[in-house]
Amino acid sequence: MGSTTPPKKQKQLILNAFAMHSPSHLNPGLHRYPGDQGRNYTSLTHWTKLAQKLEAAKFHAIFFADVLGGYDVYKGPANLEPTIPAGAQFPINDPLYSIPALAAATESISFGVTASTTYDAPYAMARRFSTVDHLSNGRVGWNIVTSYLESAARNFGLDTQIEHDERYRIADEYLDVVYKLWEGSWRDGAVNTVAVPDGVTGYADPKGVRQIHHKGKYFEVPGPHLCEPSVQRTPFLLQAGTSSAGKAFAAKHAEAIFLNGQTAELVRPSVDSVREQARGVGRDPGAIKIVAGVLVVVGETDEAARKKFEEYARYGDREGALALFGGWSGYDLAKYDDEQDFRFVEQPAVRSMVNHWASTVPGGEGKKWNKKTIAEYLIMGGNGCKIVGGPKTVADELERWVEVADVDGFNLSYASIPETFDDIIEYLVPELQRRGIFHTEYAVKGGTMRENMTGQRGHTRLDESHPGAQYFWREGEEVPKYAEK
Ligand SMILES: Cc1cc2nc3c(=O)[nH]c(=O)nc-3n(C[C@H](O)[C@H](O)[C@H](O)COP(=O)(O)O)c2cc1C
Repeated sequence: MGSTTPPKKQKQLILNAFAMHSPSHLNPGLHRYPGDQGRNYTSLTHWTKLAQKLEAAKFHAIFFADVLGGYDVYKGPANLEPTIPAGAQFPINDPLYSIPALAAATESISFGVTASTTYDAPYAMARRFSTVDHLSNGRVGWNIVTSYLESAARNFGLDTQIEHDERYRIADEYLDVVYKLWEGSWRDGAVNTVAVPDGVTGYADPKGVRQIHHKGKYFEVPGPHLCEPSVQRTPFLLQAGTSSAGKAFAAKHAEAIFLNGQTAELVRPSVDSVREQARGVGRDPGAIKIVAGVLVVVGETDEAARKKFEEYARYGDREGALALFGGWSGYDLAKYDDEQDFRFVEQPAVRSMVNHWASTVPGGEGKKWNKKTIAEYLIMGGNGCKIVGGPKTVADELERWVEVADVDGFNLSYASIPETFDDIIEYLVPELQRRGIFHTEYAVKGGTMRENMTGQRGHTRLDESHPGAQYFWREGEEVPKYAEK
């Protein structure tokens, strides 16, 4: 009899829905598609229904992107005329307010929320996230961004944006401040102590609440943190830097990293480099979840999916797409002739971006990459990869991504909300489950975001190798270890 080796346990995918509190996110103009409900973004039931539907399908999280200004570079300066009719990430509501309501309507799905370290004071931001972590029973995550829109800088009282790498230096100190507030300002077990060791009774032990005395280059925050410790204390941390400074920041702080890219082969070096950098700062590289942004349009068959994709494209707003490009890149393509092929333009950043698409987008090589081509390319799914096909085609491609790029899962954007997710739930999720690569139940039903993203029951706090863990104030310690130095 031959020996039987148990089958290798397959990697379980993380699936998140990628959304925005705006008429359209990465689908400018698609609110005009019949059946699209993007325009209902101001309704709480629009979001609670979506959260319940995604939870029934066992999605890990809804991840809400956010920006703090309009996309006003195209046909600019400071012009929102092409943006407004397309509903292109404008108008946009603050996503954090909806989370307690979404949490009340669900049990296990989590919520990633974007907030900026450039425009939001750490003391106030830490309080808002603690509040929501309390109210959601530990199901909130923070997508840390440093922001990229000039329009945001102007509205927050600056003449122009703070220099890119400087924004990351500020963010790094910002994280120190909030770790101190979340982890080092209230001692474990300080709350609701009927009789604490030194005999004090009351709501909390006053000796278990301390000022953090943070005095740094960018921030002075004495503390203490206004909120008592929430379930996760530090919300689950997500980040999506792509520059060297952004990747170094992610490798140090993020527990999940979002990456965009056209092909799995091209994303792989970024995955390797971020894991390598994480190892370099003493973290367990395997513990960092890497999630790729993709647009999946799936139908019963390849043909049905292709038809649907083409139908969506008819409603997309080309001007809105060029407005998004203007905000992301800072370049106004309106300055160029309609026939200009941007593969050859003198502006190096635009040239390299467009050449990248030309060489990686299927069928891109033979095309002229003028404004029209760029707009059509960006009309759905932004700069992320687009996978269109029947259940088998899409599942094969996602499996290939996991194999080649070594990602842990996907952030699924939409062409139409909620139809794109309805189709994914109907056609793709069962196929992934049949293949044994997507769970049929949450790892920890009713658990925290950290438990469900890591798949580990009891893993509610930052792990010990995370830099935030140096600020833990443990039971029995008079002051946290870091404060003894
Ligand atoms: C999947 C994904 C989602 C992102 N979501 C946001 C967002 O909601 N708000 C934002 O200001 N930036 C967002 N960004 C931009 C990143 O935070 C970052 O600025 C960008 O990837 C450029 O990297 P860099 O900051 O290292 O230059 C996102 C990026 C990616 C890839």
